[in-house]
Amino acid sequence: MDELNLLLPEHRRDPYPLYRGLRAADPVHFHPSLQGWILTRHADVSAVLRDPRFSADRSKIRIEALRLPPVKEELREIAAALAQTMLFVDPPAHTRLRTLVSKAFTPRVVDEYRGRIEEIVDAILTRAAAAGQMDVIRDLASPLPVTVIAGILGVPAQDRAAFKRWSDDLAVLLDPFVPAVVFERAQLSALEMYRYLCGVFVERRRSPRDDLISRLVMAEERGDLLSETELFAVCALVLGGGHETTTNLIGNAVLTLLCHPDERRRLLEDPALLDTAVDEFLRYESPTQFTGRTATAEHMIDGKCIAAGDFVILGLGAANRDPDAFADPERLDLGRRDNRHLAFGAGIHACLGGRLACLEAKIALSALLQRFPAMRPQLDEPQWYPSFISRGLTTLPISL
Ligand code: HEM
Repeated sequence: MDELNLLLPEHRRDPYPLYRGLRAADPVHFHPSLQGWILTRHADVSAVLRDPRFSADRSKIRIEALRLPPVKEELREIAAALAQTMLFVDPPAHTRLRTLVSKAFTPRVVDEYRGRIEEIVDAILTRAAAAGQMDVIRDLASPLPVTVIAGILGVPAQDRAAFKRWSDDLAVLLDPFVPAVVFERAQLSALEMYRYLCGVFVERRRSPRDDLISRLVMAEERGDLLSETELFAVCALVLGGGHETTTNLIGNAVLTLLCHPDERRRLLEDPALLDTAVDEFLRYESPTQFTGRTATAEHMIDGKCIAAGDFVILGLGAANRDPDAFADPERLDLGRRDNRHLAFGAGIHACLGGRLACLEAKIALSALLQRFPAMRPQLDEPQWYPSFISRGLTTLPISL
């Protein structure tokens, strides 16, 4: 098999034939340039995500070139903090961080954001109605999650523009294949955000409010210590991990509806389908197409020997179209039952913000469909973002 170039325009437009081919011919495929094993079957991806012998820690990768790019002296501390976010650490460090942060994402806490999300969406759509058109990404899918997360953290409204810029840059820090130059820009943004947030930490320690930063700072004071850089890393992860992914869920869902008029009609006629519909959008066009793990022990999968220190690239988007896990996987079925998609990962690192992302998507989609049932795309070709990790659109102009 020739070496795969996951970034070719045809794969970005439609990666699924490539995944199908890999899954059928070589489901545990060694990729020479990425120096890692690409897994595309649901059962394998799910098993590795749940197996403690596969570490989330990238510094355990045997091949030097695959570790984090080098960093400038003044950015060392920030880079070290970001490498220690819960997404990239194993238990027991992971358990401690996750326990502290998960309190902010319980179903009860998340459901309290409903009213605020509805207000934001309503204001955005009222502006769009007056204009008769909108760019779903620029006007709705991108500002909504960053505004919600800034609110959860407790960042004052006047600082939200800077937050949005940092957030756009930070997302790449979670991408295991970023070029060094992009990585450096992201770190500079991280440094700016760090300096800003340190001021907020001091402020909240003095006078706590009802927000995530206050809760984290107080948790620190109840004896379970989070250092200043750890506090920052949590904020950066929540922002970096929750912004672009939710933008892509909403953008991909709107595009999918525009391309499937029968399913769109079905949802319009039966809004109760929204719950299963959002899971189906997550499965059908997963915002995060890949994640990675490092093998810590030798392991056989499908007759291939994965050595300790090997990098394993887990095809979430590919697993979500596996016919062994989903009936008729290439078909969009908004009423799909028993949808065990891996769009939010699985195991101990399974997404903490999934419920929040789904709530935002449900409110945004339901309001869009109710207010603009005749919305139409203004571009013939979807404009996909140039990444194979994230699947999302750069723009989605529609007329209302
Ligand atoms: C559609 C939107 C989202 C998608 C597709 C998504 C996807 C994922 C995936 C695949 C993972 C696991 C990665 C791995 O195991 O390597 C993850 C972890 C995580 N996500 Fe999300 N995410 C979304 C929204 C959010 C939101 C809104 C937040 C927070 C506000 C968030 C916070 C996190 C955190 C903190 C983790 C790390 C959990 C841990 O390491 O224990 N995510 N997400």
